[in-house]
Amino acid sequence: MRHLIDPLDFTREETDRLLTLAEQILANPADYAHACDGKILATLFYEPSTRTRLSFESAMMRLGGKVLGFSSAGSSSASKGESVADTIRMISGYADIAAMRHFKEGAPYVAARYSKIPVINAGDGGHQHPTQTLADMLTIRRKRGQISGVTIGLCGDLKFGRTVHSLIKSLVRYEDVNFVLISPEELRVPSYILKEVIEPSGHSWREVRDMEEVMPQLDILYMTRVQRERFFNEEDYVRLKDSYVLTKEKLDLGKKDLAVLHPLPRVNEIAPEVDDDPRAMYFEQARGGVFVRMALILTLLGLAPGVLDAE
Ligand code: NCD
Repeated sequence: MRHLIDPLDFTREETDRLLTLAEQILANPADYAHACDGKILATLFYEPSTRTRLSFESAMMRLGGKVLGFSSAGSSSASKGESVADTIRMISGYADIAAMRHFKEGAPYVAARYSKIPVINAGDGGHQHPTQTLADMLTIRRKRGQISGVTIGLCGDLKFGRTVHSLIKSLVRYEDVNFVLISPEELRVPSYILKEVIEPSGHSWREVRDMEEVMPQLDILYMTRVQRERFFNEEDYVRLKDSYVLTKEKLDLGKKDLAVLHPLPRVNEIAPEVDDDPRAMYFEQARGGVFVRMALILTLLGLAPGVLDAE
C-alpha cells in the first residue's frame, strides 16, 4: 500500500504520470464520474483549511465516492486526548482512504505507520504539503508544456511556507531549474532545504531581498502568505507581513508570458488589481487542485493502473 506524505514518496516518473492522468480527467471529467462509486474518503483536518479540504471533498464526489470527516481538532476526539495513531486505526474501518492536515510536523507520517488505508498528507505544520505541489506542478506544466528549464521566483515566507518546501523538493528532480529565493532575512528558506535539497541538486539558485530587481528574469513567480500562525510573536508578524505586495506596476516589470502562482489564501501580498491580468494564474491553479486530487485518489486506491511503478 502506498501513501503520499512527502513529495519524494513518488518518483519523478510516477509524479509525471499522475499529472498526465490529472490532465486526462480535466479534459474528460465525465469518464471518471463513477470511478469511485462505493468508496469513502475521510478528511481529518486538525488545522483550518478551505481549498485543500473542499477540493479533496469535491474530488471524491466528482469520482462518485462519498466523504466523511472533521474540519477542526476541537470537533474531533483529539480534544479528548486521542492520539493520531488511535484515530487512524479506527478510521481505517470507516473509510477507504484518508487525507490528513495537522499542525504538528510529522503527524501524517505517524498516521501512515498505523493505517490500514492510504494516507495523504494535506499539510503538516511548517513542513510539507505534497498535494499543493501537485496542483502547482500541473499549473506550470499546462502553462509551459514542461517543467524543466524554468526560472522560478519563490517569494514571501520561505521559512514557514510548507508549500514552498514541497515544491522545491519536487522541482529539483527536473533539468535546468533556476531558483530565485525572494524573502526578508528572517523568512529565508530553512537551511535543510538549501543544504540537503537545492545544493546537492546542482541547480543554480540565489537568495535576494528585492522582488523588482529579479522580476524580468522570471518564468514563474510563486507568491506566498506570511504564515502568521507559525510565528512566536505577533510583533514579528506585523513587521514582516507586508514585506512584498505584488502590484500591477511591479508585474509589468515581468515577462509577457510570466505566470503568477499562489497557493492561496492571499492576504495582502497580491493586489486585487492583478487578478484580471492574464498572467495571474492562482485561481486556475486552485481549480487544478481538484483534478490532481482526483488523480491521486484513483492512484492510491489502485484504480489507475500504470501510474505507480509495480511494487
Ligand atoms: C497553503 C497551506 O495550507 O499551507 N494553503 C493551501 O493549502 N492552499 C498556503 C497557506 O496557507 O498560506
